[in-house]
Formats: sequence, structure tokens, C-alpha cells
Amino acid sequence: MRVLFVCLGNICRSPSAEGVFRAHLAQAGLTDRVEVDSCGVGDWHVGKGPDPRALDAARRRGIDISALRARQLAPTDYQHFDYILAMDHDNLEAIRQGCPSSCRAHIGLFLEFAGERDRAVPDPYYGGEQGFEDVLDLIEAASDGLIEELRQRLSRQ
Ligand code: 4NP
Repeated sequence: MRVLFVCLGNICRSPSAEGVFRAHLAQAGLTDRVEVDSCGVGDWHVGKGPDPRALDAARRRGIDISALRARQLAPTDYQHFDYILAMDHDNLEAIRQGCPSSCRAHIGLFLEFAGERDRAVPDPYYGGEQGFEDVLDLIEAASDGLIEELRQRLSRQ
């Protein structure tokens, strides 16, 4: 299974989701069964590492995302990934706009997997440190739900 997390800049929310979800996969013993990546719909930060505030917030939870580098959503992603998960509604709209009709991926909001039907992970970029903590809390909850979904799908394969 292959999972892609998508936000606007790929320096705050989606690299945080990638790091947290990898840690949850490891705890679940599923690291070898699931490929994980993240990207942004925008190109402003391509090649850059995560925002220092996202790095610090993740580090406080024992997660190191310092090696990640931002990239932009690419046409090949639609064929490669099984799940393309947006952090907010704008990201979701941008993903859908670039989506070819042949794409079979599940495209939706990440927080669906936290049992939140229409909720976004809010953009923390122009806010303070607490915003980054809130992002991680939401991501942790959705990661648990996504692990459960993948576990069920993998057991049916
Ligand atoms: P992200 O946060 O989409 O969670 O990576 C942002 C990063 C950069 C900008 C906005 C949001 N920006 O406007 O440059």
C-alpha cells in the first residue's frame, strides 16, 4: 500500500503527517508493507526542509523529520499512490483538479480517518507554536484510524 500526504507548502503539515504516520506504522509492525511520502500542491518551498517550528514540535514527540525535503505534487503520483490524503479543502480541490480519469487512488481529507467527515488540519504557518501542537494532535488521531484501515485491507490481500 502507498500513502501520500498533501498540504500547501510541504514544510509544515504533510511532512509532520509523514513523520508521525511512519512512527505509527513502525509501532504497528507495518513499516515493510506501506510506503509513505508527502508533497505540497505549491512549489514555493521545493527542496527545503521542514519549518523549524514543525521540526521542534515533532522532536518534542520523539519524531525526527529533519531529513525530509519539500516537493510538489506530480502527475505520476496519481498512478503510484493508493491513498492521496489532503490536509485541507483547498489542497483537496487542487489534488482533484490535477486528477486524471484513470486514477484509482482514494483521494480525500486525512481527518476522515479520525472520524471527522469534513474537518481540515488548519494551516499553522502564520500562527504560533500551539498551532503546530494542534496539528500533531489531529495527525496522531487520524494516523491511528488510517493504520486500522490499512491493516484491514492488507489482511484481505
Ligand atoms: P504547509 O504550511 O502547507 O502545512 O506546509 C504552509 C507552508 C508555507 C506557506 C503556507 C502554508 N506559505 O504561504 O508559504
